[in-house]
Amino acid sequence: MNQENLPRHIGIIMDGNGRWAKLRNLPRSAGHKIGAKVFRNIVTYCNQIGIQYLTVYAFSTENWKRPKEEVQALMQLFRDYLLETETYLEQKIQVRFIGDLSGLDEELQQLIAQCETSCQDFDGMHLNIALNYGGRDEIVHAMRRVVQDVQDGKLDPSALDEQAISDRLYTYGQPDVDLIIRPSGEYRLSNFLIWQSAYAECVFMDQVLWPDFNEKQMDKALKEYARRNRRFGGV
Ligand code: IPE
Ligand code: IPE
Ligand code: MG
Repeated sequence: MNQENLPRHIGIIMDGNGRWAKLRNLPRSAGHKIGAKVFRNIVTYCNQIGIQYLTVYAFSTENWKRPKEEVQALMQLFRDYLLETETYLEQKIQVRFIGDLSGLDEELQQLIAQCETSCQDFDGMHLNIALNYGGRDEIVHAMRRVVQDVQDGKLDPSALDEQAISDRLYTYGQPDVDLIIRPSGEYRLSNFLIWQSAYAECVFMDQVLWPDFNEKQMDKALKEYARRNRRFGGV
């Protein structure tokens, strides 16, 4: 793959775990478990091929609507795999958790803070893990900060521009997402990076569920991306 045509920032909606399990008469949590392994492989692969920013959607602000047992199983799994700090340490990956972390239980919040601290001086790929994340919720948070900064006299309302909003999102300091990949045959963003994806290319893959996603599928999405003609409104 030509480095030039690689997206700088990739977003992945890791979807289809439940259907994968159902097809095999397994509980949904079995799909999430395999999905966690795939997460590890794909993070490693993206780092290897030189992706600079990767954002993965692990749990949305809407996913609390699921049965209590499934939410609990997911939270337990997050403790195990999202916080598997050795993987990040070995590969010098800079990890940031994005989302409303205050909605997570205290222990998980502490583990997240530790994980972020131990990875903060690395120079490898930036990995954002979206946990209790919603794009609209993120914009609401940014707006609260705008209002606060105006009240504190740090921001003149006439100086409020797109950059000022980007600077207050969870992804502050990072480039907008170039490519969004979603397996599982759903053709929607489900509240993922809605501000940052204004000009993203979307690759929706209907032949694969997340637990079956692998390096080959990733290459396929990257090839599709390289073929796209990005115009950003120009000619
Ligand atoms: C994605 O898989 C994982 C999370 C949303 C946490 P799903 O659990 O949504 O799987 P499907 O869409 O029901 O198959
Ligand atoms: C989006 O998938 C959230 C994650 C993958 C974490 P969902 O399965 O929750 O999305 P919908 O409900 O199909 O839109
Ligand atoms: Mg789903």
